[in-house]
Amino acid sequence: MTLIPFDDRDGQIWYDGALRPWRDAKLHVLSHGLHYASAIFEGERAYAGHIFKLRAHTERLFRSARLLGFEIPYTVEEIDDACRQVIAANGMVDAYVRPVAWRGSEMMAVAAQPSKIHVAIATWAWPAMFADRMAGIRLDMAEWKRPHPETAPTASKAAGLYMIGTLSKHAAEAKGFQDALMLDWRGRVAEATGANVFFVFDGELHTPVPDCFLDGITRRTVMDIARRQQIKVVERAIMPEELPRASEVMLVGTGAEVTPVREIAGLHYTPARITAALLTEYEQVVRMEPAAVERHFAV
Ligand SMILES: Cc1ncc(COP(=O)(O)O)c(C=O)c1O
Repeated sequence: MTLIPFDDRDGQIWYDGALRPWRDAKLHVLSHGLHYASAIFEGERAYAGHIFKLRAHTERLFRSARLLGFEIPYTVEEIDDACRQVIAANGMVDAYVRPVAWRGSEMMAVAAQPSKIHVAIATWAWPAMFADRMAGIRLDMAEWKRPHPETAPTASKAAGLYMIGTLSKHAAEAKGFQDALMLDWRGRVAEATGANVFFVFDGELHTPVPDCFLDGITRRTVMDIARRQQIKVVERAIMPEELPRASEVMLVGTGAEVTPVREIAGLHYTPARITAALLTEYEQVVRMEPAAVERHFAV
């Protein structure tokens, strides 16, 4: 596969209030966001021309920024509009959308209160995070642990929290796996490097309590879908010793969508009825008009 670097593409990127040519959307190397990870981002997907759960993503972008001590200098409505503008300007119908906000170059030290806050929004085609989805993916166990919420702003989609995600995913890929399952600092099952995890135990859908990692928008959508389908949903502490007893495992996230898992470090699973049912309805729901999505879950 030929990789085209992201800075060597054409299109439009929304940058600090206006669309700019893709190649001009640059920042200075002396940016606080780059050196001190004072950056937060979102990951969204547009389906059939609509960004799925756009408002929820934009609201999380604002919450993530506040958790890092800064305010996005726009309104939620302006960012929603900017996301829509970006997909329209790039002629996208099914696409990934990436808003990002960071502290600028005014101060290069740990403290950087007067920094200008920059916001950019880009979009690109990203068909599926994992090829051949229904075959299921193979996860290794990560060595890095999701940190205690007093150790890092774990509810934020903060760039710095992805440091251990990248290390874990690289280590897993080096061993031939596609991703890694991360435990938290207590040794409980947490999530994958960029997606939440669900298990089927005795016909029920179980997922860890998101008290030190992202409570994903897809995670909540999948729980709503399961309840609509009369599948019992249980949020609880899940220990790695329980994994052999699970009958189905799946990752869920904006990027991963609903991705069946066929192995966790030597334990084998076969995607079956519940995975297929959740995946099928998820694929239908994301393609609905935003108002129809609301109605779908209102009853
Ligand atoms: C670390 C991590 N956890 C969970 C998720 C799932 O979040 P969402 O469903 O809101 O995309 C993501 C992003 O997709 C993520 O990067």
